[in-house]
Amino acid sequence: MRVLEVDHPLVAHKLTVLRDKTTPSPVFRQLTEELVTLLAYEATRDVRTEPVEIETPVTRTVGTAFTKPTPLVVPILRAGLGMLEGMTKLVPTAEVGFLGMARNEETLEAITYAERLPADLTGRQVFVLDPMLATGGTLREAVKFLFRRGAADVTCICLLAAPEGLKVLEEELAGTNVTIVVASIDEKLDEKAYIVPGLGDAGDRLYGVAG
Ligand code: URA
Repeated sequence: MRVLEVDHPLVAHKLTVLRDKTTPSPVFRQLTEELVTLLAYEATRDVRTEPVEIETPVTRTVGTAFTKPTPLVVPILRAGLGMLEGMTKLVPTAEVGFLGMARNEETLEAITYAERLPADLTGRQVFVLDPMLATGGTLREAVKFLFRRGAADVTCICLLAAPEGLKVLEEELAGTNVTIVVASIDEKLDEKAYIVPGLGDAGDRLYGVAG
């Protein structure tokens, strides 16, 4: 497993505004989208491509195209949905599948409540979108699920990660072809498994408290 903390002033600035508790939902949504586009630029560095012959107005030349099957983007509902637009802007030909996962706030275990993905992911490069890597439970289950379906490699794009969650993934996904791309590795988890300093509940900040 590889972990990449993206070190860039634009990323740091947008993240600071996201962390600010006075930032309203519409601004939070817009900045999440912009931040994901910046993270996606780094996350897609190893996307598989092949040479393609094209004709410019001047001459024939060889360019670059995505190799088939195209990358699959999987936002984890609900908060991952707020990251989708930022990703598809950069990779508009990607296919999109959905995984609905939530954590039980008492046991902190991840449960899957919805799934809309191709049955066979053999050879696919998959990009998982989940803003908060806290205990690591949700991403661990999501990544294992995708590998069981045959995914070739999985890149998780997160806004924030806690060291505790990264340790869980490092232990449980050791030796797998997984990359975590994150805007910041924060200090720790609090007693309710929120990331500190964090940005609060990402789903609530994006969409309000929907119960
Ligand atoms: N999920 C969130 O939305 N925020 C956290 O800090 C941890 C998990």
